[in-house]
Amino acid sequence: MDTTSTLPASPAGPEAGLPDSGPTPVKVWDRFVRFFHWSLVSCVLLNQFVLEAGETAHTWTGYLASALVLARIVWGFIGSRHARFADFFPTPQRLRAHWQALRAGEKPRHLGHNPFGALMMLALMGLVLALGVTGFLQGTDAFWGEEWLQDLHEGLANTLLAAAGLHALAALVMSKLERVRLVRAMVTGIKEFH
Ligand code: HEM
Ligand code: HEM
Repeated sequence: MDTTSTLPASPAGPEAGLPDSGPTPVKVWDRFVRFFHWSLVSCVLLNQFVLEAGETAHTWTGYLASALVLARIVWGFIGSRHARFADFFPTPQRLRAHWQALRAGEKPRHLGHNPFGALMMLALMGLVLALGVTGFLQGTDAFWGEEWLQDLHEGLANTLLAAAGLHALAALVMSKLERVRLVRAMVTGIKEFH
């Protein structure tokens, strides 16, 4: 059964129900998801723009980012409803249904992540883990001074930055289309549907 929480057109159940008018606040993101998100953003931005590449602070900030992602993966199995992979994992079936709905001019609204957003989320987390691994390898005897590894690390960092930019832009565009402040929801945990 597809458990993605797409909001129905008419009220169906205590959480999904949307009245015809007025904002409907729904608690969506738990404390850990919000802490995870903004801590991860801070780590990535610090390593990209503030901390000296390869220095101790850079190394530990990178490891912290990787640890956050690993913790988020665990949370994806035991966390609150919309934090769970089962709620949003972008299966081919969900991706197809979402794509078809968009092409049909519908505006499917999801309580949790929509399937495209979920795909990007997984890509962002994978990139952070890959940066952790390539960063670690650069410090090992076997790969010390290997230029291709440094280039790979740099390439991954640039890809992450570009993907995060696209992700942030998508969050703003989807907020307009779905008439819900997604960025604010990642701060407060509450989505208000208008
Ligand atoms: C969020 C994770 C990370 C990001 C965004 C990140 C980003 C970057 C960036 C932008 C550079 C500069 C590349 C260049 O212009 O040469 C760099 C270099 C470097 N990073 Fe990371 N990094 C991360 C994690 C790590 C980790 C976990 C380690 C080590 C354990 C690490 C070790 C290094 C080293 C040694 C360099 C210098 C490479 C060189 O000499 O060119 N990084 N990183
Ligand atoms: C390095 C930068 C960033 C990274 C690595 C990143 C990563 C992520 C990840 C992994 C998630 C999934 C959250 C979860 O379920 O635990 C997420 C969600 C989200 N992010 Fe980011 N993010 C970044 C920057 C931003 C920025 C700058 C914004 C604001 C404009 C933003 C807005 C959001 C929003 C609104 C969601 C929830 C989307 C939804 O409602 O489905 N992110 N982000």
